[in-house]
Amino acid sequence: ASAQDMQGRRVLVTLGPTREQWDGVRYWTNPSSGTMGAAVAVALWLRGAEVQAVCGPGTPWLPMGIARHDVTGARQMFDVANALWDAMDAGVFTAAVADFSPVPLGPEKFKKAGAQDGFSVAFTPNPDILATLGNRKRDGQTVVGFAAETSGLAESMARKLVAKNADMIVGNLVGGTDAGFGSATNRVTVLAKGGEPEEWPVLPKPDVAWRIVDWLARR
Ligand code: C5P
Repeated sequence: ASAQDMQGRRVLVTLGPTREQWDGVRYWTNPSSGTMGAAVAVALWLRGAEVQAVCGPGTPWLPMGIARHDVTGARQMFDVANALWDAMDAGVFTAAVADFSPVPLGPEKFKKAGAQDGFSVAFTPNPDILATLGNRKRDGQTVVGFAAETSGLAESMARKLVAKNADMIVGNLVGGTDAGFGSATNRVTVLAKGGEPEEWPVLPKPDVAWRIVDWLARR
């Protein structure tokens, strides 16, 4: 691929985990490191794209040439991505967004003295950023989603492609050591709309990202 084959394309990337605050000192999150999304953002930027990165907590450094929007919770990530979306040509949704948030207790620390026998926390659903933006994409907008599962990956990818109106889903099985959360490498299967699932070898995340951008650049 030529060096600047994404020149002039505006691309939204969501990355990292989200953090859902419960009380004054505790929150709900997941082990996403933002590594895969950072690799995508950097690959896009190196190839000339104008990148808007919406970053959950703990996302690694990014080059200054990438517009970075730091967010905390899923609803905030949704609001920022939603506001940017209409001006974008493509979106790559790598973030591990919390599907549910605990009903917040407020700014005070919950005291264990009142809960010797344990206690329950209620959760409410968060907006699905990819599904919302995918389902209102206009002509010319391209959407790439991710799927991380512990089993049933092929079916889940096929389902998400349709439900989220994505053009491609990149799937990986989590739980192994060579792929998924926090790993330096990834072993993915990609499924493009109208195509057959394609298995890529174990690759460093920057190389997985480079191939995803190859696919975007060809569109
Ligand atoms: O449905 P599931 O969470 O497994 O789908 C994963 C894909 O959807 C990822 O691309 C993820 O970034 C995106 N997603 C999202 N907002 C959510 C949940 C998932 O953008 N609330």
